[in-house]
Amino acid sequence: MDRRFYVTSPIYYVNDVPHIGHAYSTIICDVLARGARLRGAKTYFLTGTDEHGQKIEQAAEARGDKPLAFANRISAEFKALWDYFGISYDRFLRTTDADHIQGVQKAFEKMFANGDIYKGEFEGNYCVSCETFWTSTQLLEGGVCPDCGKPTSVLKEENYFFRLSKYQDRLLEWYESGEDVILPRSRKNEVVRFVREGLDDLSITRTNFEWGIKLPESVNDARHVIYVWLDALMNYATALGWGTDERLMEFWPASVHVIGKDILRFHAIYWPAFLMSLDLPLPKCVAAHGWWTKDGAKMSKSKGNVISPKEVADSYGYEQFCYFLLRDVPFGQDGDYAQKAFIDRINSDLANDLGNLLSRLLGMGKKYFHNIIKTDQLRLFEEERRETDAIIAQLDALFDTLQFHRYLEELFKIFSIANKLINDFKPWDKIKKNEFAAVGEMLVFVGNILAKGALLLAPVMPKKSEQIALAIGISIDIKTRERLIEKGEWDTSYDLSDSPVLFARVEKPAVIENEAPLAAKIDNRISIDDFLKTEIVVGTIVDVQEVQKSDSLFVLQIDLGEAQPRQIVSGIRKFYDRRSLIGLQVCVAGNLKSVNIMGIKSDGMILAATDGSGLRLITPEGSMANGARVR
Ligand code: ME8
Repeated sequence: MDRRFYVTSPIYYVNDVPHIGHAYSTIICDVLARGARLRGAKTYFLTGTDEHGQKIEQAAEARGDKPLAFANRISAEFKALWDYFGISYDRFLRTTDADHIQGVQKAFEKMFANGDIYKGEFEGNYCVSCETFWTSTQLLEGGVCPDCGKPTSVLKEENYFFRLSKYQDRLLEWYESGEDVILPRSRKNEVVRFVREGLDDLSITRTNFEWGIKLPESVNDARHVIYVWLDALMNYATALGWGTDERLMEFWPASVHVIGKDILRFHAIYWPAFLMSLDLPLPKCVAAHGWWTKDGAKMSKSKGNVISPKEVADSYGYEQFCYFLLRDVPFGQDGDYAQKAFIDRINSDLANDLGNLLSRLLGMGKKYFHNIIKTDQLRLFEEERRETDAIIAQLDALFDTLQFHRYLEELFKIFSIANKLINDFKPWDKIKKNEFAAVGEMLVFVGNILAKGALLLAPVMPKKSEQIALAIGISIDIKTRERLIEKGEWDTSYDLSDSPVLFARVEKPAVIENEAPLAAKIDNRISIDDFLKTEIVVGTIVDVQEVQKSDSLFVLQIDLGEAQPRQIVSGIRKFYDRRSLIGLQVCVAGNLKSVNIMGIKSDGMILAATDGSGLRLITPEGSMANGARVR
């Protein structure tokens, strides 16, 4: 590991609220930063928000907001979530920060002065959603964007261009300069192929909207703003004060830029080319992870299938969530978020294997040895120690190449070794035969496994690792890691303390699962006749009572234009205040058979939409007669 470590997350567009895809990128960076600090590297971790460009301008306009006010609000949401999770970033950069703006203008100025920027005429198909130009041959049928499938528009303007084509050969050399320049290694070929096909110069200014960084005064052309990707990518340099106050440039170049695979081209082609033009050393690694999908579709707000990371973390524990994200899906591959898989991981790996091991150690340590376990020397369990040493020896390499699923898989093998040893050694029988020394030595072995395990797990689960460390009387710090991991020492005594249960088992799902997005369901189509079998009608809520002994149910009386109001029991209590519902018009599935819910008759179902972040009742857009049919 280098003595300095600089890790960056993507800076997130402020047109979306944070979901687990964003959390995944940020958590990976946090884990890398914590790992580097614990190995003694001077570390800088950058994250932030990407706030300029046409997409943001349009999103703000759609809400009747000024772009900056809109960006302030969403940027604060990202920051608040990272703070809530305890993400250990050193700077949260906003592209509207003054030092960033100044740095971007400086970069433009420098590229202009060295001849890498020139003025030309441009005509192309522009996708606002991806903030990208496409050639006609790249567009899909109907002229839609090949990345996001949205319509593109033809844009013709006088622009400033960056001489990307000039850097083709140097880029190809860079890709070959090291094995890990692009991770996972399989992605490198994709980039190399793209560059070999030839690079066009890149249009790096826009005149058709205003929400962006102005060109530097020296260029003297007030009609243009700087292309949002040049603006955004430069954040990795301006955050360290490039172009303003360069004291933090000691961290340069980035050890790793963590990104999603959707933005690899920008980071593996444009970004190094910009850096070559600015005469700055290139990043050591660009690491592209896969997408989190829900029922097979990429998670995104526009698809309505986002999972709220806060809701999941609140329900199951934030560090359990981190463990699941990193353990379940190999870095670089897509993963489908499934609550069941998550719960299985908590129950088997965390509660059974690790949590149980700690409670076995503490239980026996207290019962047989009054919490002080020690041995003169380690003689027994030589094979288990050798096996453990061999597993640990390969972990840093897995961590450094971001193979977290393998890292955690291997790490958890040492807990299995210890659990198996306890089962085979049967300490409870040995105690009956007064073999205290052997049992003591076995517990010391287990103590070592938990000490080493906690040190190695600390980047992913810092608080849980602290809890283990406290229970066995060690510290999670650079020195202890050096001793027990790097040098591979084994301690001969532990001073134990009581500890709460490390991981509670999860018996049933805690979060309402999102419905699969329509686009992701393939063979589920029904005829219109089937659809019309459900009589959906409009009704007005006339009374709402709470159901005793339930914190989720209301019993509602709804006027559907019939002689008597309908009684319907509905699980919306967590989402609505009782009084706010009275008088509201809703849509009701009116011809369902009666059911009994907690002993109360329910004659129909109120329709609501759910997503990862909550529940909303479906109401007619304007007032309607009660009983009006919805079709
Ligand atoms: O692209 N699964 O910002 P962005 C996994 N501003 N990761 C996901 C994801 C998903 N479903 N959805 C998003 C931008 N991400 C630019 C970046 S950097 C100089 C500028 C993650 O808000 C993933 O890392 O669209 C992706 O690259 C990032 O969020 C993009 O976020």
